[in-house]
Amino acid sequence: MNLDEKVGQLVQYSSGQPTGPGTGRTDFNDMIQKGEIGAMFNITTAREANAFQRVAMEKSRLQIPLIYGLDIIHGYRTEFPIPLGLAASWDPDLVQRAARVAAREASASGIRWMFSPMIDIARDARWGRMAEGLGEDPYLVSAMARAYVLGYQGERLSAPDSAVACPKHYVGYGAAEGGRDYNSVEISEHTLREFYLPPFHAAVNAGAATIMTAFDSLNGVPTSANPFTIKQILRNEWGFQGLVDSDWTSIAELIPHGIANDPATAARKAFLAGVEMDMVSSFYHDNLANLVRSGQVPETAVDEAVRHVLRVKFALGLFEHPYADEKQEAGAMLQPESLDLARTAAERSFVLLKNSPLAGGSLLLPLPSDAKNVALIGPLADDAAVMLGSWSAQGRPEDVVTLRASLMQKLGADHVHYAKGSDITKALDEQLAEAVKTAQDSDIVILALGENASEMTGEAASRAHLGLPGRQQQLLEAIAATGKPVVLVLFSGRPLTLPWAFEHVPAVLAAWFPGVQAGPALVRTLFGESNPSGKLPVTWPRSVGQEPLYYNALNTGRPAGNADLTKPPSGAADKYISRYIDEQNSPQFPFGYGLTYTNFSYGPTQASSAQLSAKTLNDGLRDARHPPSSDLTASADITNTGTRASEETVQLYVRLEGTSTAQPVRALKGFQRVKLTAGQTQRVSFHLGPDVFALWDDQNKYVVESARAKIWISPDSAHGSEATLDITK
Ligand code: BGC
Repeated sequence: MNLDEKVGQLVQYSSGQPTGPGTGRTDFNDMIQKGEIGAMFNITTAREANAFQRVAMEKSRLQIPLIYGLDIIHGYRTEFPIPLGLAASWDPDLVQRAARVAAREASASGIRWMFSPMIDIARDARWGRMAEGLGEDPYLVSAMARAYVLGYQGERLSAPDSAVACPKHYVGYGAAEGGRDYNSVEISEHTLREFYLPPFHAAVNAGAATIMTAFDSLNGVPTSANPFTIKQILRNEWGFQGLVDSDWTSIAELIPHGIANDPATAARKAFLAGVEMDMVSSFYHDNLANLVRSGQVPETAVDEAVRHVLRVKFALGLFEHPYADEKQEAGAMLQPESLDLARTAAERSFVLLKNSPLAGGSLLLPLPSDAKNVALIGPLADDAAVMLGSWSAQGRPEDVVTLRASLMQKLGADHVHYAKGSDITKALDEQLAEAVKTAQDSDIVILALGENASEMTGEAASRAHLGLPGRQQQLLEAIAATGKPVVLVLFSGRPLTLPWAFEHVPAVLAAWFPGVQAGPALVRTLFGESNPSGKLPVTWPRSVGQEPLYYNALNTGRPAGNADLTKPPSGAADKYISRYIDEQNSPQFPFGYGLTYTNFSYGPTQASSAQLSAKTLNDGLRDARHPPSSDLTASADITNTGTRASEETVQLYVRLEGTSTAQPVRALKGFQRVKLTAGQTQRVSFHLGPDVFALWDDQNKYVVESARAKIWISPDSAHGSEATLDITK
């Protein structure tokens, strides 16, 4: 390979879009023939993929196949719920199966590289990309990251239906100041290691073959030119052997970031920091070979980067099988089992936020299956496109079954009275009036409100106001004023601050954006054929001013304790504490929260031993074969006290006190889904390995220290009884 051909392997362009700033080339065939492109993306048919591939395989000197990528973050043609919804399932096995479906469909179009999972910890609902990720908690996001990687990459990468994963955005992107997309990020090394890095480490340990850097500058150094995160942590500490890709023009963005004054410097800084492939900016294409020739970049480093690209292509079997089978493509999409899984995934993603008794004492949900006179109101009741969520790859509105279609099928068209009531962002007075009339003439109202997926969630969709857009709040209040029982189905890519709704509406279901099977999943859930069992993967705030709001915070030196924060401070004792004078500290709903159609009671948390040795745990931490604490367990009896069978996600939390660095008030360390029939009790046990008690200390080392450990087995991050253990030297 000559130097230019090597650099070519490190260049990636988006089909159909001009190359980077100032260059504007679209002559991809010519560049591929000259060996100037190694990877492409945004190609979505086998025919197009094969056409470019033919140029690479038949006309370029070295006949190295191209690799095709795409943003497939929750399905390719069969759209599953958005990632935040998938995370709400707390079901990694389900996520792995969904990822497998996505890889099978995408590879049928020639796409073998998924720009996913997005595993940025997101603590601030203003950030639109919260929708694309898996929530706020390192343990849950790590579990989901692993599931995605295993699902995409399958048992063998060389299988024609496997694809390489690309965890992103490395790293800290979700902590954008003020929740404003692309904004700067400040995260101490301690916090980075404790919260933001673990999902990436988990994805690397699961075998992720590639990783994508990010747009943010992290502590003053953009992550697309950050040797500390890429070279030191990813390569040296974790031993990552795969390929590091930039984000879209993130190498060119080093200039506006202010750490390079010209493209050559930007290319040099990114490359020497360890970014191996240049997505779109063309700065490597234009500068890397000259940087080598002038001695500013060692050719051995280019060789190493090229090796990483080629290894991925070899592993995928692209040299032997560079082409997708155009005849098989259509048949791979939307297979019945894939649609079944999409429906199950949607059902498992729903979080029942509220279900209060009506005047007669009975719960509003589930609705009676013989309901005869149901009003369906709201801009999202019949909007197929929005159900697909953001980054919906090849998802098509015509593949979506809406809530309206499914409800009519369930009850018969005559029994469903539909009124749109409002658009997402605007409404006419007549629309509102018609909706009120429709509600008045019905027995029950299902109200489908929320955000627009593509404009209000995802990339470049930060919001400073987290209420219902347009006149939807007005619609909600007008419908509630009719006195009819209202079920609010909320579609969103983030928690919305709706204190009025949570106070006045008897039943609220968070549906996120559920994907192609939105309607069937919702109808089965609303009528009790499927029981909601999702739990929040993010803390649900009461008001925007609380953001960033997350459960695994530090306690502060002046915690609010039991002070009554519903009232303004009345004296020194409840003033000089960490609080707002005009809002509670607590969220609307805590992380991990979600109701079911039954009730669960939790017995006391019990640990099998009250004393642990830090030394033994540290031995176990360093050497997994060391079995020092393998028999230490925490257990609790969980009872289904209601009248219906249901699943429950039982959660394990830990707090460490007396340690060198302050530890979160609670940190999730385990979860299990159990299914209990009415009246059944089951003892749920968690094995407590050394990781449960390990922390990043004041020297940024991962160790177990002597400490007091509190443990909860609980239905969410705010409840449960506590057991205490002593970890002695
Ligand atoms: C996004 C990435 C995405 C890339 C390619 C960027 O704007 O930040 O998440 O993978 O575009 O589409």
